[in-house]
Order: sequence, then structure tokens, then C-alpha cells
Amino acid sequence: MSEKPPYRFSFENEVKPYRVQPPKSPKDIFLRMVEGTDISIMLASRDAGYHTAPHVHDAEQFNYIIEGELWIFVEEHGYRCVKGDIMRVPRNKIHWAWNRGSGPCVMLEAHTPPLTGDPMLKTGAISMMTEEEEAEALDGTVNIQVEYPKLAEVEERAIREVEEANRLPVKNLAPADG
Ligand SMILES: [Fe+2]
Repeated sequence: MSEKPPYRFSFENEVKPYRVQPPKSPKDIFLRMVEGTDISIMLASRDAGYHTAPHVHDAEQFNYIIEGELWIFVEEHGYRCVKGDIMRVPRNKIHWAWNRGSGPCVMLEAHTPPLTGDPMLKTGAISMMTEEEEAEALDGTVNIQVEYPKLAEVEERAIREVEEANRLPVKNLAPADG
């Protein structure tokens, strides 16, 4: 019988967390990461004030928000993601994130192909592949920083739209006396 492949880990106890500092962000990311042949998964915490610069990667990304909130911007649109939300970022779309909440945002993130081409992320990522699988695995993709001159305009508009939508209609107010 062949050796038992490393297909199971305790994410909490066996996959060591590490920190990475994305370019231009005032705050780092505290994360755990695993990779397979075609996908990488990270469980990442971003403190309030975390704000990345626009970037792209040749991988599709899905985020599931476990705790807190995070604004995710994809080109001209911004999405306020809260606990329980799932967010898709298509391949090669310019995107960035901003934690405008009061506490950390914890998110499970999947990238396919894996995002472990990024040396910063690769350092702490645990392989869940056998040696044979590793030899055949796809090359990991990388984060590529890009210029996005419309950033401030997009953020301002997206935040205003959501804040306006959240504002309760003013009704049933008692008329002022006299
Ligand atoms: Fe991304």
C-alpha cells in the first residue's frame, strides 16, 4: 500500500499562522494557507484599517466572510461584505479591499489556480499534495500590483450608494408641536 497522502490537516492546530504585509497597506494579514494542485485556500484575518492597493491575479477568487466586515472593490464597483456573505472576484479583474469596520475581518479565501506563486504567501503555505502531485501541480499565480487612477472615485461612490441604501426612510415621525 502506498504512503497515506497528506489530505487532512487541522487548519486550527496543524497549519501555522503567519503574517504578510501587502504592498502599500497600513496593516498586515494574519493567515493560514494550504495548497493543492489546482486551488489554494487561506483563512485570513485583517484588522480594522487594512487597505490594499489595486492588484490582479490570473486566478478566480471566492471569499466567505466568517467574522466582521470588509469592503471589496472590483474595478468600478464596491461591495460591503459582512459575516455570511460570499464574494467572487473573476480572474484578472482589478480589485482591492478595505476594512472600514471597527474590528478584524476573518475570511476564508479560495484561489484557483493557487495563489502560491506569490513568494510572500508561499513561505507559510502547507502543501496537501503528495510528491507526485506536486510535480504535476499547476504553477501558482501571483499578485500583480496595478495603477488604478479611479480608485478614490470608485470608493467614494460605492460607499455613498450603500450608505444611502441603508438609510431608513424617515416616516412616522410625530409632527412637531405648534
Ligand atoms: Fe485577490
